[in-house]
Amino acid sequence: MATPAIARTRAELDAAHGDSTVSFVPTMGALHDGHLQLLKHARPLGETLVASIFVNPTQFAPGEDFDAYPRTFDADLERCAEAGVDIVFAPTVETMYPTGLVDTVTVDPGPLGSVLEGAVRPTHFRGVLTVVAKLFGLVRPDVAVFGEKDYQQLTLIRHMARELALGVEIVGCPTVREHDGLAMSSRNRYLSADERRQAAYLSAALRAGVAAGPDGADAVLAEAHAVLESAGITPDYLVLTDADMGEPRPGVDAHLLVAAKVGTPRLLDNTALTLGA
Ligand code: PAF
Repeated sequence: MATPAIARTRAELDAAHGDSTVSFVPTMGALHDGHLQLLKHARPLGETLVASIFVNPTQFAPGEDFDAYPRTFDADLERCAEAGVDIVFAPTVETMYPTGLVDTVTVDPGPLGSVLEGAVRPTHFRGVLTVVAKLFGLVRPDVAVFGEKDYQQLTLIRHMARELALGVEIVGCPTVREHDGLAMSSRNRYLSADERRQAAYLSAALRAGVAAGPDGADAVLAEAHAVLESAGITPDYLVLTDADMGEPRPGVDAHLLVAAKVGTPRLLDNTALTLGA
């Protein structure tokens, strides 16, 4: 288990990966088994595997958990070694934002950036897309892997890579779940024991929705809502879309997305499903 090289600047990155093909997993650290899966998925996709660890200030609004976001660099490095990462890119804020955090060029996510997560966190996706575009510019990967758990983020990054012709292939990696179905997330550590039990009902609601798929969209939403209600969870949203987050249509791959506050943390989950008429 070789320790990855640590690069903090573009020059160090370039020196470490030379001309090899690169697969890339961007992260904000606090790596859990879900990240490990992303890294393992990315490992065979390039000659050099780069993981970035950067808690990006511009995707947190004032009052969100930027300061409290867990920073566990030494443990993260061990997980990266375990997954066969060659280079950990851990830039400083100055490397990522050389002209400062305001009055700089940013990526506008378009209409999909202002609904669902974007309605609750209006500046979030601008921050995510901007930092991901910068990371792509610095790391210059051939392939980048993102978790399907943050499905709206994954969809927006796919759109950005395609529409801005960034020349990087975006690959989605299935969500990793706890034994009771809860999607793994760095924020699960904020749940109390009672909230942790309640949180499992988010994925139970999605499973109920999938089972109702053949009966159509109304049945999917009704069944999923019933499970959330039985657990005392009021969702911020529970919506059906198509696989690209457009309007859902019968017979076309659909997606069911949920977000809810369980105690302090807001938790997200989603699943693919097939809709009957
Ligand atoms: O999903 C995340 O961890 C972050 O949003 C990302 C993609 C690393 C950008 O900061």
